[in-house]
Amino acid sequence: MSWKTSDSSKQTGWGKKPQSDSVSIFEMGARDGLQNEVAVPTAAKVALIESLADAGLKRIEVGSFVSPKWVPQMADSADVLAQIQRQSGVVYSALTPNVKGFELALNAKASEVAIFGAASQSFSQRNINCSIEESIERFIPLMELAKKHNIPVRGYVSCVLGCPYEGEIAVSEVARVSEILYKMGCYEISLGDTIGIGTPQKARRMLQTVGERVPVDKLALHFHDTYGQALANILACLDLGVRVFDSSVAGLGGCPYAKGASGNLATEDLVYMLHGMGLETGIELQKLALAGQAISTQLNRKNGSKVATALLAK
Ligand code: HMG
Ligand code: MG
Repeated sequence: MSWKTSDSSKQTGWGKKPQSDSVSIFEMGARDGLQNEVAVPTAAKVALIESLADAGLKRIEVGSFVSPKWVPQMADSADVLAQIQRQSGVVYSALTPNVKGFELALNAKASEVAIFGAASQSFSQRNINCSIEESIERFIPLMELAKKHNIPVRGYVSCVLGCPYEGEIAVSEVARVSEILYKMGCYEISLGDTIGIGTPQKARRMLQTVGERVPVDKLALHFHDTYGQALANILACLDLGVRVFDSSVAGLGGCPYAKGASGNLATEDLVYMLHGMGLETGIELQKLALAGQAISTQLNRKNGSKVATALLAK
């Protein structure tokens, strides 16, 4: 396997990585993580987000503007956005399923928003109560409003390596939905292995197929770690040129509509691997580990990061 940078002439072996190679991590703990944990006080979310920014994270999903009946843990997202001390250069993002959510996010001064669709009809129904096609229809006016207000929109596609209800999902469907979201104006498409069942070759094939419809530098990988495959999957995809990964400090979370799903890959574990490979993230691992431990203590939950557990035991 070899590195592939945007300049293919720089392709080198594992040991000869180009110095400038850097990776962008989108931190999911406060949203994807905490949406599936017992509700924590707003102040604890604010402390978590501020400590993540202190650790060097530049892209932080802080909450979601969804129905509080569906996901009560995220009901205080406007308060979270109002209370955080913002650092310049840090993006504070929120999930928005429809125009109502977008308006709430705009009002709360989210730096950017994310729409979320799926490559599985059944998951779409259970997650956002509509078909894939209906979700796209709902996103159109949201995208128009976002354009008007100059708010960048990220797009998620769930179930890219399998669905909790339908099992196998055709990669052609993942590519189709990804391309629709990209062509609608999403600046980046995050490919979600919502239930963490993918394995490396499958992940790689999926990314290759989607990469034929959406440029790889506009794609991100969002892998839950239910079966412990997330790091291996990322490693298998790195040389295809993908450089954006979503992860969750302390491996917080899961998905409310995907029973048994673990949280995203722990950010500490991802950072440790990337740094070990000489890739830059801009993140201070020790500070990140402390942030993850603080929220794990708050939740009375075992820290889900192996790296953090090892570092903090020293
Ligand atoms: P619905 O019931 O079809 O919507 O839900 P509706 O338009 O008929 O409205 C029903 C009620 O919800 C109304 O209130 C609306 O005002 C309210 P009522 O009259 O009953 O009092 N409502 C809202 N309230 C606040 N914010 C809003 C909003 N919209 C409507 N934006 C809806 C449709 C999408 C709202 C619902 O299904 C929902 O909230 N789903 C939650 C989905 C969710 O948050 N899932 C988890 C995040 S996705 C994920 O984790 C996957 C990801 O990580 C990637 C991966 O891992 O694959 C991104
Ligand atoms: Mg997720």
